[in-house]
Amino acid sequence: MKIYITTPIYYINAEPHIGHAYTTIAADTLARFYRMAGYDVFFLTGTDEHGQKIYEAAKKQNITIKELVDRNSEIYKKLWDMLNISYTRFIRTTEPEHEETVRKIFTKLLEKGDLYKGEYEGYYCTPCESYAIPEDEKSPLCPDCKRPMSKISEPSYFFRMSKYAKQLEKYIEENDFVKPDFRKNEVINFIRAGLYDVSITRKNVEWGISSPTPENYTIYVWFDALINYLSGIGYLQNDTRFLKYWPPDVQFIGKDIIRFHHIIWPCLLLALDLPLPKTIFAHGWWTSGKDKISKSKGNIVSPQKIVEEYGLDPLRYFLLREVSFGLDGEYSEEGFKKRYNSDLVNDLGNLVNRTLNLVETKMSGRIGNQTPKTTLVKLAISVFEEYQKKMKAIAFSEALEEIWKLVSYLNRFLDEEAPWREGCNNVREILYSTVYGIRIVSIMLAPFIPASSLRIWQMLGFDGDPEMGGFKLLKQEIPEGIKIKKREILFPRKK
Ligand code: MSP
Repeated sequence: MKIYITTPIYYINAEPHIGHAYTTIAADTLARFYRMAGYDVFFLTGTDEHGQKIYEAAKKQNITIKELVDRNSEIYKKLWDMLNISYTRFIRTTEPEHEETVRKIFTKLLEKGDLYKGEYEGYYCTPCESYAIPEDEKSPLCPDCKRPMSKISEPSYFFRMSKYAKQLEKYIEENDFVKPDFRKNEVINFIRAGLYDVSITRKNVEWGISSPTPENYTIYVWFDALINYLSGIGYLQNDTRFLKYWPPDVQFIGKDIIRFHHIIWPCLLLALDLPLPKTIFAHGWWTSGKDKISKSKGNIVSPQKIVEEYGLDPLRYFLLREVSFGLDGEYSEEGFKKRYNSDLVNDLGNLVNRTLNLVETKMSGRIGNQTPKTTLVKLAISVFEEYQKKMKAIAFSEALEEIWKLVSYLNRFLDEEAPWREGCNNVREILYSTVYGIRIVSIMLAPFIPASSLRIWQMLGFDGDPEMGGFKLLKQEIPEGIKIKKREILFPRKK
């Protein structure tokens, strides 16, 4: 069983913020989940390094473009390391292999008659790198980002996208291609309104892949960028990675780039006679002060700062728990702290801490060998079933809610059974059951908060690693003779 997961490749004109971290953490969590379920995972991410916007950013900073792209793609890589992102490959669109793939695909489509030469007359938004029709021609503002657009009039190659409209519409109707479901109509309506042909070259943009045509135009940055999902797994060489992993199973994007991914991208693949991605999931935006978090709005929230203050796993947890994946979410430090203190400190951290403390004081640190309580075993089985369904449906917050059913049950169980009370004669059974439950919680949490899950695992005295062991660990009994390790506070309370 294979699964191919991608993130968008990020523009490197500026430094990453939590919006970028969000998509990548989501993709990472799904990749980890499928690895634990025994799938062979290919997880692609990277940086989008061409186009006018990047050219202008380098000019503004008075450095060469090469310096800018090398420096900033390194910043992304470092951030992904810090956020514990388990990507298989990090692609940069300035790699020769990618550039060659883009040119070859251009030539292929030209030969097929799916590209033709025409004249582009209209508007271009550099911040979005998109051709767009302004609502008002007198003050031509981009309909998406509301910033001024430039008027261009130049010869250009066009991709015959309109040719694939019917085929795409049918595919969308019959498959889970557009996710979440509520986006499906939006995309279908857009297609029914009439698909245009897209311009895919720029005449006067020097920073880009040069077109394999006599005029030496540069290739439109979005045409170049979308192809990363092919070049990143060896399409050009038709190599084993491509043969094994194509098509993508889950592609993560933000709702800002739906049109490129749900329309242009599949049309391009139809033109290349390639199978289409199974699902492209468009998540919502993180906002601050109700505005989309973005550099241009000046309301950036830095993932590095949150990690310094709270640690990495609280950030990963918060982003995927706070809003239902697909909807927008307002970020505030207050909201973060509240979620952190209630879920991680009070519920999970406290459960682990008091259980370990009791095992230490009441059982000299040895878990012993008992039978877990039947109601707990039943609950754990149903929670795991639901959790898997939610994860496969890319409903992260709901999957975490499932896990929390077990966490809450265990906290209530301890409160009610009160193994600390004088004369309690089934301390061993109670604590064995609690440890059994926490073990299952730590396994299910591993894709979300891998480092904390491992710490819980190790503190409980288990060998190995829940992620490496995978979900088949759930079928195994607690090994005999387990002794808990030194107790540490998982999540310190924040004032
Ligand atoms: N380079 C293109 C994508 C090409 S993919 C073939 C691009 N890059 S981007 O740097 O602007 O980042 C886009 C992605 O970052 C969004 O689609 C989204 O996944 C993520 N986010 C950026 N800001 C965001 C928020 N404020 N909130 C949530 N995610 C957002 O577009």
